[in-house]
Amino acid sequence: MDMQEQLRRMEEEAQSELSRIADRAGLDALRLKMLGKKGELTQLLRSMGQLPAQERPQAGQMINAVRERLTAKMDELESRIRKMERQKKLEREAIDVTEPRAHTPIGTAHPISLVQDQLLKVFTGMGFDVVEGPEVELDMFNFELLNLPKNHPARDAQDTFYIEENIVLRTHTSPVQARTMLSRKPPIRIVCPGRVYRADEVDATHSPVFHQMEGLVIDEDVTMADLKGTLDAFAKALYGEGVTTRFRPSFFPFTEPSAEVDLTCMNCHGKGCRVCKGTGWIEVLGAGMVNPKVLDMCGIDSKKYSGFAFGVGLERIVMLRYGITDMRALYEGDVRFLSQFRED
Ligand code: DAH
Repeated sequence: MDMQEQLRRMEEEAQSELSRIADRAGLDALRLKMLGKKGELTQLLRSMGQLPAQERPQAGQMINAVRERLTAKMDELESRIRKMERQKKLEREAIDVTEPRAHTPIGTAHPISLVQDQLLKVFTGMGFDVVEGPEVELDMFNFELLNLPKNHPARDAQDTFYIEENIVLRTHTSPVQARTMLSRKPPIRIVCPGRVYRADEVDATHSPVFHQMEGLVIDEDVTMADLKGTLDAFAKALYGEGVTTRFRPSFFPFTEPSAEVDLTCMNCHGKGCRVCKGTGWIEVLGAGMVNPKVLDMCGIDSKKYSGFAFGVGLERIVMLRYGITDMRALYEGDVRFLSQFRED
């Protein structure tokens, strides 16, 4: 068989193989078989040395022409295969956005946050601003400007954690009152929620860290009737129309007069039960008319302005609201406990 014939068959065979190949492995194998180091065309080219010298240029041209045609076909097939592969990859990696996903548990707001948010809603609804203050506080704001000078016996009731001689973890949210009076002009109407600290032993009703919300209103002609009306509206917003407030005389250095404020027991609606120890009332607030001395110390003219203030402990409200009997449950972070407070 002469070389020309051999070349023709070789090309024909390669063409027919090409038309059957559908993947990269097949193509690679054919490329190797024809054009590899030991490939058929390569060997044919090498065997040209045996031809008479005058036939060599023509033979070389023919072999090269076949190689170019085959190479072009193979390249074309390769680009088709690449497209197919890309298409398959896209299909494989496609994301079905309609597919329901595995259940991921969603956290819940802490019961203290739930109650705090609810109180804030009630007071902002009455036109109060929300103000926050630092938890690491100067003795001056926590005590002195609230009429609790050094060595005042009332300080004993709020024994606290001292950072330095004049820096304490705040024992109540009342220092935010002093800060606000010094930085704003009346009329002032604020509530100040936040964490407070006292050197208390942990038990079912005490924790060294707890939460309060302070209220302060200062304007001309503010009276005790405004205090009573505001707290009554607050009690009703929180627990419903049947709930009212009862004021009992008390003492706080920063208010004069001062009161402990009870709400109608939300468990028995005043009839008397285990929760209110038969009294029909539950103590939740301290309140009073801002002591004129405090107004003056904080740069507000007590002859022109008067005001009222109150402080609510949030834990107590949370425990009453949800029937929690041990305060420690609020701080242990047990998901089985906390997940019960989902409010959807
Ligand atoms: N600061 C008081 C406490 O922690 C609560 C309180 C009582 C705040 C009377 C007030 C107030 O603003 O007028 O026990």
